[in-house]
Order: sequence, then structure tokens, then C-alpha cells
Amino acid sequence: MRIALTKASPAELRTRPASGTPLGFGKIFSDHMFLMDYEEGKGWYHPRIEPYHPFSLDPATLVLHYGQEVFEGLKAYHWQNGEVYLFRPRMNYERLNRSARRLCIPEVNVDEALEATRQLVRLERDWVPSEPGTSLYIRPNVIATEAAVGVHVSGKYLFYIIVGPVGAYYPQGFNPVDIFITEKYTRAAVGGLGEAKTLANYAASLLAQREAQQLGYTQVLWLDAVERKYVEEVGTSNIFFYIGDELVTPSLTGTILPGITRDSVIHVARDWGLKVSERRISLEEVIAAIKHGTLKEVFGSGTAAVISPVGKLAYRGETYLVNNGKVGPLAKKLYDYLIGIQYGGVKDPYGWVERVC
Ligand SMILES: Cc1ncc(COP(=O)(O)O)c(C=O)c1O
Repeated sequence: MRIALTKASPAELRTRPASGTPLGFGKIFSDHMFLMDYEEGKGWYHPRIEPYHPFSLDPATLVLHYGQEVFEGLKAYHWQNGEVYLFRPRMNYERLNRSARRLCIPEVNVDEALEATRQLVRLERDWVPSEPGTSLYIRPNVIATEAAVGVHVSGKYLFYIIVGPVGAYYPQGFNPVDIFITEKYTRAAVGGLGEAKTLANYAASLLAQREAQQLGYTQVLWLDAVERKYVEEVGTSNIFFYIGDELVTPSLTGTILPGITRDSVIHVARDWGLKVSERRISLEEVIAAIKHGTLKEVFGSGTAAVISPVGKLAYRGETYLVNNGKVGPLAKKLYDYLIGIQYGGVKDPYGWVERVC
């Protein structure tokens, strides 16, 4: 695939954050973006890198009405030796294609998408921040672009990738979060979109998230949509429970996003000799383990925070402390190890990191 390159003119260059200013998350984007079009009968065509720019869309564009869209989220890491690396990026594009199949969106060629990502990151190398814990966030997105407001599968699509520097997730240190367990709302039902990374799942989560925040909690813990009995995810992360000598994470039943960090935690924990189970886990079991003193740790896993320890769970008016509200040793060890692999401080025995430039 030959990617056409139009470089930003000096007037099109974007303002860079002054060194030392907090980057936050997802607010700053670099000078360039990757784009590629699709038309039925023609396939994907015209791969190109252009100056970052707003889109002009017909008001009838399908994605704006029926949400036919899939996306991904991954990061490029600046190592101390000046090199830039990606972490398991192929898994992101494989997941993008699984999400695409569920949304009737044409798949992209994984090797070409990876090459587009590498070329964009290489071009934006100066945008990869180097302060500890920072990274270049990469957001691939596929949207349905046919303009026609009847509910149907679009015949046209746009695949684009934007990138921007993001700050350290834990600038004040690695601290546990308080979680509200919602029975009122659910995120996804079997047969729905839960295992796809698509905008509807995030729209479905906003009200529950807002209500939990109004009550002073950081995130929502989602239960299954049928019985409101089994644990599914926490916020936009997968979830792990360390009970006795078993590390348990909900099995992938179609309603849960198959996280790349989740997969990495399972691999690493098994290699460390831990018993790791992917199975259904009921809230009843979790609460019983808290009462019996066998619940050692709870933590979320995801690209944004890597590991986010849970300090408190609120359910039906009761609050339950996990590990006395402190970061547990397993969460800390996994966090240090995975961050170590991503930033090059720890030797990667798995071939998970890939040098870009
Ligand atoms: C709903 C949801 N679950 C889990 C995850 C964690 O997935 P990953 O580890 O691939 O970032 C994410 C983040 O992408 C998410 O949005």
C-alpha cells in the first residue's frame, strides 16, 4: 500500500503544548491524520496522510443517525533511549475487524492498517511526549459516510486515524478508585453490541457514569443485563478479582470487550504461577468473599490506566472496603511489570512491543 502524503504547511501546524503543561487525555491532536475511503464494489482506496482537519459531512450521513461506527484505542510509548514503541497493535486491528463484522462495516487489511499507524507515528514522532507515564494516544475510527437517512447498511465508509499526546494516568500516584455497582442500568445484553468497540456502548454508559459521579464514585461496575447478578466490566475497563489463591475475570460471553490489557494480565499472571480463571463471577460470590476475608484485591485493566485498583464497592446502600482501601501487591506488581514492558524498563519476553522509530 502506497500512502500519499500531504504535509501540513507552516500555517496548518498545530499549537504544541508548552513543556511542563499537563496534557490531560484526548484534547490535543497532532499535525497530521491518516484517511482511507471505501465504496461498495471498489473496496478500500486512496490511503493518504493529510494535515489534521475537520470533516465536512452531509447532515444525512448515516453514522450521525444510526451509529454505524467502530473504533480502537492504543498508544505509542517513548523509551528512555529515544525510540518509540507500540504495544500489541495487531490485536487492536484484529479487534477492530471483529467489531466491524458486528456492525456490517467492511474489514480493513490488518497489515495495511498497521503500516498506516507506523507511518503516521513516524511522521508525528516529535509529538510523542517523553515525560514519565505520558504517551501518544492513537485513535483509529471507521464511520459510515453514505448520506441517506433510511436505516440500512452504508455503501460508503471512511477509515481515519488521529493521534495526540496524553498525560500520565496517575500523575498523583497509583491510587484506588471507589466504584458504584449499578442495578438500574446495564451496558450490554447477550446478542447486542457489548463485545464490539462501537459508540453505542459508550452512549449507553454515560447516564450511569454521571449518576455514580454525582454520588461521589469514580466509576460504575456493570452487571449482566438478564439477572443483574454477574459482574461484567468496570467503567471502560475489564475487571479482576483476587480471591484466595485464584485470580478471576469474567469470561467473554459476548457482552464484554475483549481487552488487550486483560489478555496481557492473564498471560503474565499465569506465567507467575497464579491460578487464573475466566469464568462467570456473581456479585454474591464477591460479597461473600469480602465477608469471609478471602477477597484480597479488585482491579480494572485497560489501555488508559493499565491497572486501576478498586478501593471501595457500593451496592444496595452498603459500602465494602477492598484491601482496606489500599493498592494491593498484585495490582502494583502487574502495573509495574506491564508499564515496564511498554516503556522498555523491563525486558519483554513475549514479543509484545514493536519498535516504530
Ligand atoms: C468497554 C471497555 N472495556 C474494556 C476495555 C479495555 O480494553 P483494552 O485493554 O484493550 O484497552 C476498554 C478500553 O478499550 C473498554 O472501552
